Amino acid sequence: MREFSAEYLDTTRRGMWEDSREALASLDLDTAKRVLDVGAGTGVLTRVLREESPATVVALDADTSLLQGSVGPRVQGDAARLPFADDAFDVVVCQALLVNLPDPLVAVREFARVSRGQVAAIEPDNSAVSIESTVETEAPLARRARGLYLDGVETDASLGAARTLFAEASLEDVTVDRYDHERTIEPPYSDYALTAARRKATGDGLVSDRQTILAGETSPEEFDALKQEWRTMGRTVIEQMQAEQYRQREVVPFFVTVGSV
Ligand SMILES: C[S@@+](CC[C@H](N)C(=O)[O-])C[C@H]1O[C@@H](n2cnc3c(N)ncnc32)[C@H](O)[C@@H]1O
Repeated sequence: MREFSAEYLDTTRRGMWEDSREALASLDLDTAKRVLDVGAGTGVLTRVLREESPATVVALDADTSLLQGSVGPRVQGDAARLPFADDAFDVVVCQALLVNLPDPLVAVREFARVSRGQVAAIEPDNSAVSIESTVETEAPLARRARGLYLDGVETDASLGAARTLFAEASLEDVTVDRYDHERTIEPPYSDYALTAARRKATGDGLVSDRQTILAGETSPEEFDALKQEWRTMGRTVIEQMQAEQYRQREVVPFFVTVGSV
């Protein structure tokens, strides 16, 4: 199981759902009494669900250290074997979970088993992430690195809309909506933005993905060449930050697939 730090989740999700919740409109949150957020992490989506619904919202995650960051009812458990009776919830939701599972269909079938109403999956298409940057080389290099990562990763990190999985789990009346999560870096820079820039300049950020990238078709020599270009780009990011000229905008498309049991 890929591990996530609380800092990574809180930072990459900052501002998520604050600009618009239109893409959640297909979820029957107004009438729900019990909602389950599977793979809740630090509870970023759990908090949104609690704001949007009068229901008791339960957060479940395999990683207890992440759940400590969340408040309210929380349960440690595995998405593939949910510790709940059949029909225990009105709505079962996950966000950025299926893209990390080796067999997402097993999880979606479990969601359908414990739901008596709806199942929803909010999943990114990581192959469609776009970046604009004041450092010219950043967007093409990030695209290249992402492509090599996606070649090597074992799960379907480009899942996006989960129509096929939902059909295979016999979910009905399936709808798909899109939510673009936009993240910007601009002055004054946050500590996280400064750390991320340093990780570009040292190559550490890319090195943490080395094993996955090499599991694809990339040779160690090609990886080292990419790392050199990446570090040069990172140094330019830091120079621009020192002059308060660096700006970056990243858009991650999330697809909200909703079906009924
Ligand atoms: C990318 S994070 C998403 C967290 C949160 N939903 C969000 O969007 O911020 C994926 C989460 O799924 C959890 N996870 C991974 N495999 C799991 C499994 N088999 N059962 C339950 N949780 C799992 C991880 O611990 C992590 O918290």
